[in-house]
Amino acid sequence: MEPSKRERHINRIEPTQFIEDMSEPVHTDLPTLSQYHILIAEDEPFERSLLETYLVNWGLTVKTASDGREAYQKLMHDEGIRLLITDLNMPGMDGIELLQNIQQTGRAKLYSVVLSGISDRATLIQALSAGANDYLIKPCHPEQIFSRLAILDKVIALENSYQKQLDDLFEIMGQMLGSRDAYTLEHSRRVTVLSDRIAQLMDLPTEERHVLQVGCSIHDIGKIAIPDDILLKPGKFNEFDRRIMNLHPSLGANLIANRYQDDRVTELVLQHHERLDGSGYPLGLKDDEIGILTRIVMVADIFEALVAARPYKLPLPQETAIKILRSEAAMGKIDGNIVDKLEKAVEKLDILSIRCPLHYQDLHIIESFRQIAYFREPFCNFYNYRYLITLANKQKKLTVLRNSYHLILLDFKNLSSMNKRLGYIQTDTLIDQFGETVLGEISNFKNSIYEIEGEILILRKGADYILFSNHDTSILSHLSEIIKQNMQTMHTLWGADMSIKTMTFDSSLPVENAINQLIAS
Ligand SMILES: [Fe+2]
Ligand SMILES: [Fe+2]
Repeated sequence: MEPSKRERHINRIEPTQFIEDMSEPVHTDLPTLSQYHILIAEDEPFERSLLETYLVNWGLTVKTASDGREAYQKLMHDEGIRLLITDLNMPGMDGIELLQNIQQTGRAKLYSVVLSGISDRATLIQALSAGANDYLIKPCHPEQIFSRLAILDKVIALENSYQKQLDDLFEIMGQMLGSRDAYTLEHSRRVTVLSDRIAQLMDLPTEERHVLQVGCSIHDIGKIAIPDDILLKPGKFNEFDRRIMNLHPSLGANLIANRYQDDRVTELVLQHHERLDGSGYPLGLKDDEIGILTRIVMVADIFEALVAARPYKLPLPQETAIKILRSEAAMGKIDGNIVDKLEKAVEKLDILSIRCPLHYQDLHIIESFRQIAYFREPFCNFYNYRYLITLANKQKKLTVLRNSYHLILLDFKNLSSMNKRLGYIQTDTLIDQFGETVLGEISNFKNSIYEIEGEILILRKGADYILFSNHDTSILSHLSEIIKQNMQTMHTLWGADMSIKTMTFDSSLPVENAINQLIAS
């Protein structure tokens, strides 16, 4: 049975001789708890101030509340409170109700200790199931309280170090992905900063901001399983590339599901490409099925992708990116309120200034090797057609120097009979030699016309060659002449049948489409 107020007064924490002992505050005995605020909920002023005195003298920062309701309000507004010490019998909202309400709000990382004169088991169990982590029965010696706080101090320190290790692990996962694709690391950092700015403007609690940061830093972690040919493709994706790349949210979510205490991180990874109108992937979720944290990442993710430079696209100005986001919001794909916040967030933030330079020299070497591997046709000195596409995307002048540009396809028609007759290796060598000879002669020709602005490139496509030129047609006919002479030699010496196909394209047509037309014709 609950003691009367009078009895409770008698049962108060006994000050005894300890007040004198505490004249010299010890600040280091509760090093972890001392970093946070402690809230005392106690309706008896004397007991409240006595407990406060002890705690302050143990080096803790204390807030007080005289009933459950006041305590609840303080908890909702002060995220620094990590420990609640509460009485049970209080007017208005009692201790059990207070604990239950806190549990319902999902206030994370709060420890609660009940300090009550009620000593029956049923009340104790009721308090523990309402969310209390510990239960002390008054009257209790101050050192009893101290020893319980000392244990709690260690528990919180362990929890913090566990969280730190998890954060480090996620950081390492991000870096691992970055060592495969440096851009994704930079992208993730920027999305993290942007999302956090948006979350701040939306007054989200620190704890949710932390989840958001962890989730953003690894939102694309599934890309670790995407093959280099697609992950590092400097050109635009075709349908197949897109299908493979779109697996990255599910791949990432599978990696971390059930291994991280907070499902919201997995949710961010899985859902960041969903759209509010159901047009996203992988699940086609809609409206309320998509939580606020995911909505923030969606907006930040699109914005970064628009304003960043990629090998296959030029960076868009911030204002244009925001216009695009607005139209996406108008179509019901993303959250317009978050777009508003993003606009505010980037007012004084140049997101492109966040860079993640590769950490050591070796990574630069790996990066250039990757470029060579991607652009160079295997076992020969020629770049492949993908190089032309990338170059044209980077240097607009290449296609628009004149009203039109030209592509010439040199196609070996009787490869299989040459292979049979001469053997695969010799045929392959002959194809290389043919290209080298044409390249040499065209280089000489280029030198002779150096004063005329223009570019001539020879690229490989499998066993064939593609020649690009943005010169006018008179130069083109010279090039054709050089090629035809060499084709004739190949025919005479080795019986190679080759075709030559020349096509002229309007300068506005992307090279990628031009190559497709050339090959398909
Ligand atoms: Fe993604
Ligand atoms: Fe992303």
